[in-house]
Amino acid sequence: MTATNDRFLRALRREPVDATPVWLMRQAGRYLPEYRATRAKAGSFMGLATNPELACEVTLQPLERFDLDAAILFSDILTIPDAMGLGLTFAEGEGPRFARPVRTAADIARLAVPDMGAELRYVTDAVSLIRRELGGRVPLIGFSGSPWTLACYMVEGGGSDNFSKVKSLAFSEPALMHQLLEVVTDSVIAYLSAQRAAGAQALMVFDTWGGVLAPHHYREFSLRYLTRIAQEFARGDGAERTPLILFGKGNAPYLEELAASGAEGVGVDWLVSLDEARRRIGGKVALQGNLDPVTLYASPDAIRAEVKRTLESYGPHPGHVFNLGHGLSPDMNPEHVKVLVNAVHDFSRAR
Ligand code: CP3
Repeated sequence: MTATNDRFLRALRREPVDATPVWLMRQAGRYLPEYRATRAKAGSFMGLATNPELACEVTLQPLERFDLDAAILFSDILTIPDAMGLGLTFAEGEGPRFARPVRTAADIARLAVPDMGAELRYVTDAVSLIRRELGGRVPLIGFSGSPWTLACYMVEGGGSDNFSKVKSLAFSEPALMHQLLEVVTDSVIAYLSAQRAAGAQALMVFDTWGGVLAPHHYREFSLRYLTRIAQEFARGDGAERTPLILFGKGNAPYLEELAASGAEGVGVDWLVSLDEARRRIGGKVALQGNLDPVTLYASPDAIRAEVKRTLESYGPHPGHVFNLGHGLSPDMNPEHVKVLVNAVHDFSRAR
C-alpha cells in the first residue's frame, strides 16, 4: 500500500513534490508530555521499546500534534547488541550501559546474528502494528545503527568522551575489529530486512560516531560497512525498492563516497551547507537535513528565518527531505517544533 501522503518517498526518489517533506530525528521523545506519560506507564525506556502497543502509541504521538510527512519506528539502535546478549540498561540521566561489553577475542567470537523472529520479534511486531495504525497516512521509516556506531557502544560499554577502548581495539587489533564489524553488519542487514518485511517503507542507518574517526580510519571502519549495507539493499528489488538513507554526524568530508554507495539518501548535520552538499553529490542522491537543532531554542521568528534559509540553501526541490542535523532534546518546546514544521511547508509551497 502506498501512503496517502507520499512526499517523503517522492523526495527520496527525487520526484516532483508540492512541498518539501519534513520529519525530525527523535520526533517521539521526552520533549512531549504525552511521551513522558506513556513512558511512566511502561516503567523504563526498554519497557516501552519492547512493548509493541506502547511503542506504536509513542510513534504516533508527534503525528497527532504536527503536520509531519513521515513516522519513524519508536525503538533504539542498541536493540541489536542487547539481543546479542550484552545486557542493555538505561540509567536515569546517564544514558545506555551494557552489563557485558565486548573487550576480548573470546567476547567477539561468541557474538552471533540475533534471531529476528525471536529476540527481536518485538521490533517487527511494532513495525506491523504501526503500519496498520497509520492506515497509509504517512510512510513509516525503519532504522538501525551503523556497524561502527554500534561497535562503539558495544566496546565502550556505553557512551564515551574519547572512544579510547574501541579505537585502541581498532588500531591495535584491526583483524579483530573487522571480525566484530562483520557480525554486526550481518545483523544490521538482517534487522533492516526484517523491518522491511514487516512493513517499513524506508530504512535509515544512523552513523552517529563515524565523524570521530580520522579519514583513513573512517573509510576502513565505517564507510566500508555502510557501503556493504547500501549494496545489499540496492540489489534487485527494482520498482519495489525500499529507499535507504545513510545519516552521519560529521560525514561532510565523505559526501561523494556516500552518494556513490548505492543509498537513495544521505543525511547530513549542520556543519555543511546544503548548496555545497548538493553540488558535491551531483544530484545522485536525495539529501536529508540539516537545521542546527539548537535553533529550536530561539524565537519563532528566528526559527522561521533559519528554515527559509535552509530551504533556499538546498534550492528548488526535488530531492530534499527537511530534518534537523541531529535529534531533538528533552527540554525543547513543542510549540517551537510546530513553528518549524509549518514553516517548512509554507515556505517550500510558495517557492
Ligand atoms: O527518532 C525517533 O523518534 C525514533 C526513536 C529513536 C530513539 N533512539 C529513541 C530513544 C531513535 C531513531 C534512536 C537512535 C539512537 N539511539 C541513536 C542514533 C541517533 C542519534 O541520536 O545520534 C543513538 C546514538 C542511540 C543511543 C541512545 N539511546 C542513547 C545515547 C540514549 C540516551 C540518551 C538520552 O537522551 O537519555 C538512548 C535512549 C533513547 N532512545 C531515548 C529515546 C526517546 C531517551 C530515553 C528515555 O526515554 O528515557
